[in-house]
Amino acid sequence: MSERYMITTPIYYVNDLPHIGHIYTTVMADIFARYHRMKGEQVLFLTGTDEHGQKIERSAKAKGIRPIELADEVVGRYHTLWKQLEISNDDFIRTTEPRHEAAVDEIIRRIQANGDIYKGEYTGWYCAGCEAFYTETQIVDGRCPDQNHPVELLSEPSYFFRLSAYQDRLLNWYRENPGCIRPRSRYNEVIRFVEGGLKDLSISRASIRWGVPFPGDPGHVVYVWLDALTNYISALGFGSDDDSLYRQFWPADLHLVGKDILRFHCVYWPAFLMSAGLPLPKTIFGHGWWLRDEAKMSKSAGNVVRPDALLEKFGPDPLRYFLAREMTFGADSSFSEEAFFTRYNTELANKLGNLLSRTISMTHRFCGGVIPAPESSGQIATAAAAAFDAYVKAMETLKPERALDAIWKWLEELNGFIQERAPWALAKGGDAQRTLLEQTLGTCLEGLRVTAILLAPFMPGTAAKIASHLAIPLPDVFPESTGLWGGLRAGVALPPAEPLFPRADFKAYLKEATMDETPARAPEESSKEAKTTNEITIDQFAKTQLVIGTVREAERVPKSKKLLRLMVDLGEEEPRQIVAGMADKYEPEELVGRQVTVVANLKPVKLMGVESRGMVLAASVDGEPFILTPDGPVPPGTGVR
Ligand code: MSP
Repeated sequence: MSERYMITTPIYYVNDLPHIGHIYTTVMADIFARYHRMKGEQVLFLTGTDEHGQKIERSAKAKGIRPIELADEVVGRYHTLWKQLEISNDDFIRTTEPRHEAAVDEIIRRIQANGDIYKGEYTGWYCAGCEAFYTETQIVDGRCPDQNHPVELLSEPSYFFRLSAYQDRLLNWYRENPGCIRPRSRYNEVIRFVEGGLKDLSISRASIRWGVPFPGDPGHVVYVWLDALTNYISALGFGSDDDSLYRQFWPADLHLVGKDILRFHCVYWPAFLMSAGLPLPKTIFGHGWWLRDEAKMSKSAGNVVRPDALLEKFGPDPLRYFLAREMTFGADSSFSEEAFFTRYNTELANKLGNLLSRTISMTHRFCGGVIPAPESSGQIATAAAAAFDAYVKAMETLKPERALDAIWKWLEELNGFIQERAPWALAKGGDAQRTLLEQTLGTCLEGLRVTAILLAPFMPGTAAKIASHLAIPLPDVFPESTGLWGGLRAGVALPPAEPLFPRADFKAYLKEATMDETPARAPEESSKEAKTTNEITIDQFAKTQLVIGTVREAERVPKSKKLLRLMVDLGEEEPRQIVAGMADKYEPEELVGRQVTVVANLKPVKLMGVESRGMVLAASVDGEPFILTPDGPVPPGTGVR
């Protein structure tokens, strides 16, 4: 019987559409859920929506619809978004479902049977305009926070939970289970709070209608947090005839929550469970906030970032990657699109994407497109096992950003290995170098296969794409660290490589995002238009001298990140010096011996002080160059018609 693992996100309020903050909790939970599935565990990953209470009642009223209609609409948006982001939740619980209400009923009955509920008076600031109570901290200058109506101090009958009786039991639980609240700073924070003393908690409201009726007193509804927290067991069938999932999966291994709702999860929830005689969750992790302009991203601050534009342009993986990579799990972090583009271009496009496309294109050029066998052991195989161990350790200790660090460190090693072995040079060494060349490329391809396995929980679509580039499916379960290396299928033909992460232009994205009147046009569309309106005659075209040349020398232009200085043999007396902006993608050594297409009659220009007498042509995919090489070798100077 495999181990079981239950992970949850908070359930989201339906008075707001999801923004980056909500997405973060769910994406991180998904990464851990996928990781545990790949460990061969039986996983239950739960998310859902929190649909009762005053906030929802009021938002619906403002829209002139019933609360359930508002909830249905927003739930639809959540389902679509989770699908777009490849969230692999096993269930989606709504607090308006009968299965949930049955569980709330049952937990309250158990708490009641334990003598922890009594009837008293709830006193709060009442707003007649909103028909709602506010707490002392919510009111602003004697007025309600949302509508600015005057408020008055009023009391209403309410049921109370004897939270005060749980102070010592909670403190004992924290002390006996130092891993129950993570990270450590939040654990200390909760202990300090509970040591300060606990007051009994009002758990019903007579002034609200939109909620679960209080068992035995339908004039009251259950307080939203007692209602909402119960989702974690209602989804498992607690309180119903079939509670097999509850018996199998409870207690949860990890409740992942934002730090703003830590107290509810670390104080109220365990106290309710203790009173009801139910087991307590193993770990509650309070992650930090995504900030925008130094403030928590939230609807009320009006500074939220919605995911739609980034998802439309990039699909789910770059956003999943960025969220996991940019934020240290547990700490706050600022969200900026610029940082997103920088990570995307430098890490995903230039490093990972480029490594894959280079390795595959060299395998096509030097090995006839057939996968060669990797080295069975050695420096790179050892580094792969070490990366895997570091990755597992980081994931087990809830440090996903360190797991990504381990992957990047490993990719650097793989990159260094290619540079050192220089397959483009080995390819010129004839039969003597053949075995080494094949082993080198096989080892790189195998390294990329290992990378795909490690990336799978973070970027499932990308991992599958890399695997299909390598013509081998990804394993569903991690191999043992000793069996990680060596799964490549040598002798199989490689499909042609497609760019994994085409480079992205941040300025163009910003321009599109700010064009609100006219819909933004993709750059290809405008160039299509230019093609039809700027026709040229064949004579005009003939003025451009296009010839094939062979690169004889190549080196980086000093102090430039992009420019290469090439000496290209165009069949003339002397090779031509041409400066090309390709250093992001191509190593100089890789180009030597390669045939390129050149515009030979361009007026000379100086680039970074180096004269360029011609231009090397390349197809450009979002700024990433793909050199145009003839189908077979031709004499230097051959014209292109
Ligand atoms: N409905 C309650 C949770 C009940 S769980 C039994 C709730 N909902 S929420 O929609 O307001 O927030 C859900 C989650 O989103 C919380 O974990 C919250 O911390 C997270 N985030 C909302 N804004 C956030 C940021 N700006 N940054 C990171 N996460 C934040 O609370």
